[in-house]
Amino acid sequence: MRTHFCGELSKANLNDEVRLCGWVNRRRDHGGVIFLDVRDKKGIAQVVINPDTAKTFKIAETIRNEFVLQITGKVIARDSEMVNNKIPTGEIEVLAQQIEILNNSKPMPFQLDSMETSEEVRLKYRYLDLRRDEMQKRLRLRSKVTHFMRDFMDKNDFLDIETPFLTKATPEGARDYLVPSRTHEGSFFALPQSPQLFKQLLMMSGFERYYQIVKCFRDEDLRADRQPEFTQLDVETSFMNEDEITSLMEEMIRGLFSEVGNVDLPNKFPSITYSDAIKLYGVDRPDLRISLQMVDVNEIMKDVEFKVFSRPANDNKGRVAALKVDGGASISRKQIDDYTKFVSIYGAKGLAYIKLNEDGPASPIIKFLGDEVTQKVIDLTEAKTGDIIFFGADKSKVVNEALGNLREKLGQDLNLYNKEWAPVWVMDFPMFEVSDDGSLNAIHHPFTAPSVDSKSLKNNPEESLSRAYDLVINGSEVGGGSIRIHQSDMQKTVLSLLGIDADEAKEKFGFLLDALDYGCPPHGGIAFGLDRLVMTLSKTESIRDVIAFPKTQTAACLLTDAPSMVSKAQLKELNVKVTLPNKTQ
Ligand code: AMO
Ligand code: AMP
Repeated sequence: MRTHFCGELSKANLNDEVRLCGWVNRRRDHGGVIFLDVRDKKGIAQVVINPDTAKTFKIAETIRNEFVLQITGKVIARDSEMVNNKIPTGEIEVLAQQIEILNNSKPMPFQLDSMETSEEVRLKYRYLDLRRDEMQKRLRLRSKVTHFMRDFMDKNDFLDIETPFLTKATPEGARDYLVPSRTHEGSFFALPQSPQLFKQLLMMSGFERYYQIVKCFRDEDLRADRQPEFTQLDVETSFMNEDEITSLMEEMIRGLFSEVGNVDLPNKFPSITYSDAIKLYGVDRPDLRISLQMVDVNEIMKDVEFKVFSRPANDNKGRVAALKVDGGASISRKQIDDYTKFVSIYGAKGLAYIKLNEDGPASPIIKFLGDEVTQKVIDLTEAKTGDIIFFGADKSKVVNEALGNLREKLGQDLNLYNKEWAPVWVMDFPMFEVSDDGSLNAIHHPFTAPSVDSKSLKNNPEESLSRAYDLVINGSEVGGGSIRIHQSDMQKTVLSLLGIDADEAKEKFGFLLDALDYGCPPHGGIAFGLDRLVMTLSKTESIRDVIAFPKTQTAACLLTDAPSMVSKAQLKELNVKVTLPNKTQ
């Protein structure tokens, strides 16, 4: 239907007879001459309709935004004062000879280029929202990313193997999405939170290198970088240790950023232990574009009269930490109040600070700390005139989360980034975290190998480290994986430490435990969050910006109105009863 793309026309096409197809981005009537900006997937070209082509002009008068047209015309140079250097086709225009309206359009529910349209409206009319240039660019980028990944994995001898969606629960730590079975009354499939167990089984089947770009489903509280269904580049290998796996995957990420994003990442990504990440940055996904580091001040706060500090300083689950910000003494009282509100989201009961003004340290807490302790803090944090020191004092978890997130917020607000890209491997995670009731939970998942033997693990589970690794880029956890347990005894030990007894283990993971007994090779792998990688590459704040048809924060699809009620007949067939008051079917 077309000879050229609108967005590709240039001076090289001068005098060419062209036929274009596309949408009307904008129509302008300039007293006697009509201009149309016509858009296709490659960009926009200006089409001019003169009244002397009377029939075409008459058609052009009826055209409105977003009509779909086929235009036949000739490429001509724009008058010099009409040249638009902002668009690639700005030096030319197409003098229309014929226009055919292929389809018309109702007035748009929102202006595509308006910044004021709410996200609800955009999501309801997502097919229109996706016409926007930035959405087109992001989805094009995403397609390039997946293309690069497939190519890399294929060249490195990885097989693309699909795994089932209708399956049994996989414990990645979120709630499952369940699907009732019609043929097995009262039974449910779970949608996979990841293909974890299947990819391990494929190693037991001897494939040695597997990958898949695959949807995962997790019913969890959503955040700016989480969706209930999201995509992973999922990878598993046999006979490779953590150095070999992380090196190969690093090569893939480096190639991807270079080829798709034109970004040069360092030749060897730095790594940090989990414990250092928490100690210095408060979080296990440190944003190393920001150089601020937390400093422990426990020791010097143990005997101060300020209970807010001395209590956690003397509690082995507590922490008192300082965060010095260069030049931060100019942060206003009002901003400090806002930051105090910000840290309260993470449970912090306040945000003490010391400003180092020209005339000396100033703070509401100096009177409680005394000059000597104040000076020690200044020495420890290496603060100088013009700086501010913030403090967190509470249970370690609260202090880490509060100051860790404050650190990132300060980085954003004060533009403290000292580099554009900061990848880092986080290593040496603990095997378990201890819940308030004393029970153990897997930090990665229950199939992650410990870095100690079974005896030490049983004797000291809380201190044992795992062979897991995460890749963090600019503070976003873009991937995570581990070397797996490949011996059934060790697997049983870990499951029992997690409080899963033999019967439950057999019922939930019997197939895996059986498979471990038939010559299972040492194996390990990783999964990258594709959506997060594309977010990072395109520097967007919301995961919804890189997904064609995303869900809202409450896990709903505004476009299709899913989830929705279903008919009584369907429910009956599935033996499912809805018992919500007012919604009983
Ligand atoms: P994990 O649970 O760490 O590991 O997930 C791997 C990566 O997937 C991304 N991710 C998400 N992205 C968007 N929305 C979500 N709700 C979401 N949850 C996770 C993150 C994360 O780093 N089976 C293991 C991998 C393995 O051990 O090989 C797993 O799924 O970027
Ligand atoms: P108060 O004695 O409660 O008025 O607190 C004095 C200062 O300490 C204020 O600046 C509070 O914001 C701060 N503060 C109170 N509790 C904490 C805490 N747990 N961690 C850090 N600072 C705190």
